[in-house]
Amino acid sequence: MDKIVIRGGNRLSGTIPISGAKNSALTLIPCALLTEEPLTLRNLPRLADIDGFQHLMTQFGVSASIAGHRPEDFGRVVTFQAPRLTSTVAPYDLVRKMRASILVLGPMLARAGEATVSLPGGCAIGNRPIDLHLKALEAFGAEIELAAGYVRAVAPDGGLPGGDFDFPVVSVGATENALMAAVLANGTSRLFNAAREPEIVDLCNLLVAMGAQIEGIGTSDLTIHGVNRLTGATYKVMPDRIEAGSYACAAAITGGEVTLAGAVARDMSATLHALQAIGVTCEEVAGGVRVAANGPLKAVNLSTAPYPGLATDMQAQLMALLCRAEGTSVLNETIFENRYMHVPELARMGAHIETAGRTAIVHGVERLTGAEVMATDLRASMSLIIAALAAEGESVVRRIYHLDRGYERLEEKLALVGADIERVSDE
Ligand code: UD1
Repeated sequence: MDKIVIRGGNRLSGTIPISGAKNSALTLIPCALLTEEPLTLRNLPRLADIDGFQHLMTQFGVSASIAGHRPEDFGRVVTFQAPRLTSTVAPYDLVRKMRASILVLGPMLARAGEATVSLPGGCAIGNRPIDLHLKALEAFGAEIELAAGYVRAVAPDGGLPGGDFDFPVVSVGATENALMAAVLANGTSRLFNAAREPEIVDLCNLLVAMGAQIEGIGTSDLTIHGVNRLTGATYKVMPDRIEAGSYACAAAITGGEVTLAGAVARDMSATLHALQAIGVTCEEVAGGVRVAANGPLKAVNLSTAPYPGLATDMQAQLMALLCRAEGTSVLNETIFENRYMHVPELARMGAHIETAGRTAIVHGVERLTGAEVMATDLRASMSLIIAALAAEGESVVRRIYHLDRGYERLEEKLALVGADIERVSDE
């Protein structure tokens, strides 16, 4: 298993190319289930999660052909096509490795009239139920049955009628599943209190390019007029706002100055506002976002919230940055319980953090020191990388398969801007 070794203290400076958004890609790929025509996705990040999802799609008879690319290029172009679905079952072995597999439920139900998906197991960042995914599909007329660890959804003869659903809690995944089911329904569906993350807008834009009729894109109330069939499309995945925000924190903790090439400031404005409050200069520049940290970092109080609020996926990275701020910061995690598993690892590097339930109190420290650390989820692992970049001496970050799930060639990108970082095999 590989590990990442970082010798901290280098000031990051230069340009980091931002990849296609993982979370967007994971909801764009299952759209291939909605049409017999080819769906070509450009700028797909090369990540373990994307490979995993491609593999899952082959289970249903969806072919994936990857266009030739040079090894030095980031991203790739993949064409998915499912002339007919050969199976409507997503088995446990594939689903357990990746929670996002649940996103095949809605489109498969819409196309085939039925879908059987293994229930995603528990997850390191809270128990993450799927009740809202199922309730939305029920509101559209599906019958849902849970048995032997699987959920089976069946549409009435003639297809899903469509219907209205008001989300009691904002859910990104449930909104995505509902959208992908509603686009092929017989009637009109309305979603209230839907998630409006940029990745949802990306999904809506692709669906519209395929011929779907959606009103209210970018708002929390969506109206979907079902159509008989969708066509293929060629579509470019949006830039990854979480990857961009992570590298912004990395640059800031080293007192550096980095241009995030391809990043879209509008999509990450809550993160940029947080960074500005911490004392980091952020500006939109041609083709990206530039961040620069000159003076001391200031303590702030932050709370995560659904978009346009501060993304929960940025909490761990901002916490790492705040470890080096002057004064005491308070973080409030409102989306997931149990999302502070990076805290004990940061403490091993000299951080001083107290947690109580969903609140974390971060006392800024003068210095962080290198240590051997490992984390249990993707963003938590990134927070350790960020801390290591500023720590004195050498840090070894283990279990980096989490990072490979969500950061395309992380060590290459950080080395590009001057980090002393290498990936080594742990024999
Ligand atoms: C997605 C993102 C993840 C991000 C999260 C919140 C992907 C692949 N993952 O996850 O990176 O951290 O949005 O921005 O895009 N909930 C329910 N019942 C449900 C579904 C969700 O109670 O059926 C709750 C969850 O427990 C959580 C909250 O709703 O407290 C938000 O979760 P949700 O937005 O659904 O997250 P995901 O779509 O799983």
